[in-house]
Amino acid sequence: MKKDIVDKEDIERLVNCFYEKVKSDDSISFFFSKVVPVNWEKHLPVMYTFWENIIFHSGGYTGNPMQVHTGLHTKQPLQKKHFDKWIELFNTTVDELFEGEKANLAKQRAYAIATVMQIKIAALPNEDRVY
Ligand code: HEM
Repeated sequence: MKKDIVDKEDIERLVNCFYEKVKSDDSISFFFSKVVPVNWEKHLPVMYTFWENIIFHSGGYTGNPMQVHTGLHTKQPLQKKHFDKWIELFNTTVDELFEGEKANLAKQRAYAIATVMQIKIAALPNEDRVY
């Protein structure tokens, strides 16, 4: 029986393992290496606070992911297949490491946020929408 996500260390493990999968996946890694060459030392701590906030309501995350991803989309179209892969990798990571209420919450929230991102992208003016 796996444990549930219980603390900050678990969030860090989840985020680290997830981005290791993202980086080695040919269908979405280029967003992080070419479209926006991500500085991982900065990005990972942002993602820890983002997920800590979602799972434990810890506050601390002050960014605007919707704006970041609609901006990203105008550089390189974010398509349904990219979101599907992102979710698949995220769910696989959660399931490999954890099980329980918080683990389920993480998967539900990821799916909900990915859905809203796709709706926001679909609502962009035509010239920014590029499928
Ligand atoms: C097609 C799927 C996705 C791709 C390719 C993608 C790619 C990226 C990239 C390249 C960045 C860095 C942007 C930058 O530093 O300018 C980023 C940031 C981020 N992503 Fe995603 N993302 C995807 C989906 C998601 C989803 C579903 C979530 C949430 C559940 C998410 C949460 C975030 C957050 C919180 C940030 C940091 C925003 C900030 O700087 O405050 N992403 N993403």
